[in-house]
Amino acid sequence: MAELTGNKDAKNYGIGIPAKTEGFFLKGSCHYDWGMQDRLSRIFRPASGKTVMLAFDDGYIMGPTSGLERMDLSVVPLAEHCDVLMCTRGALRTCIPPVHNKPVCLRVSAGATILKELSDETVGVAIDDAIRCNASAMAVQVYVGSEFEHKTIANLTKVIDAGMRHGIPTLGVTAVGKQMVRDARYLGLAGRLIAELGAQFNKTYYCEEGFDTVVAACPIPIVIAGGKKIPEPDALGMAYKAIDQGALGVDMGRNIFQADNPIAMLKAVSAVVHEGEKPDKALDMYNTLKNEA
Ligand code: R5P
Repeated sequence: MAELTGNKDAKNYGIGIPAKTEGFFLKGSCHYDWGMQDRLSRIFRPASGKTVMLAFDDGYIMGPTSGLERMDLSVVPLAEHCDVLMCTRGALRTCIPPVHNKPVCLRVSAGATILKELSDETVGVAIDDAIRCNASAMAVQVYVGSEFEHKTIANLTKVIDAGMRHGIPTLGVTAVGKQMVRDARYLGLAGRLIAELGAQFNKTYYCEEGFDTVVAACPIPIVIAGGKKIPEPDALGMAYKAIDQGALGVDMGRNIFQADNPIAMLKAVSAVVHEGEKPDKALDMYNTLKNEA
């Protein structure tokens, strides 16, 4: 039993000082519980409100993608230069030492490969294993308009429900089926749907026309996908334009780990995202770091 005698009298009540009602820095996220906001603050840096996520989950549908043949060799040196690792639980447990202490966005949808219909996915990770992996978020692919649209939307809602029970955010990933066009109308539809179904953030593609409307109509943070490898100046330009039009980060894979110098590219992308560096300056930075290496 606690000692009752000899304690100092409580007297520092701050009478007259109103208790602060804190807001939360992230779009659409001010009404979540503490654990959810804590995890979102690990994903998005509170100082800049933005994130650079390193995506290396490509192998779950494509096999040993160029640059990811040996994740222990190629990804591990990159870990300290990004904000979040986005990957499968298999990649995490086999190749990433837990000492990096980086937040993990765990890929939890699964079931398709490039050899068959990509939208035919299910939920491939139980919530208790996501918790064992200390996931700061879970990623689910959503194929609006594709053959298995309904199934992928159901996957999303199941994962959101499980995430809500445990305070883990869900990243709804706008996956564009072969027949779909990556324009503002399509990306806006998918992003809005993902937000309205309760995901905490949305990964989508940048589009040249009307990306600002995609961002405006999506009440949750948007991070842009990298997609297929494009020349470094174009990738930096795309990141700049997306951030300039309201995206709150990038979730890039091939445009990082397939670059001539992946660490330099990650640093240059990070300067664009967190410091608003212009693409030409970021490219200079990339070339300088690459030449120094
Ligand atoms: C969706 O999120 C996909 O699985 C991406 O293809 C994956 O995250 C890899 O990123 P990237 O397309 O930038 O290589």
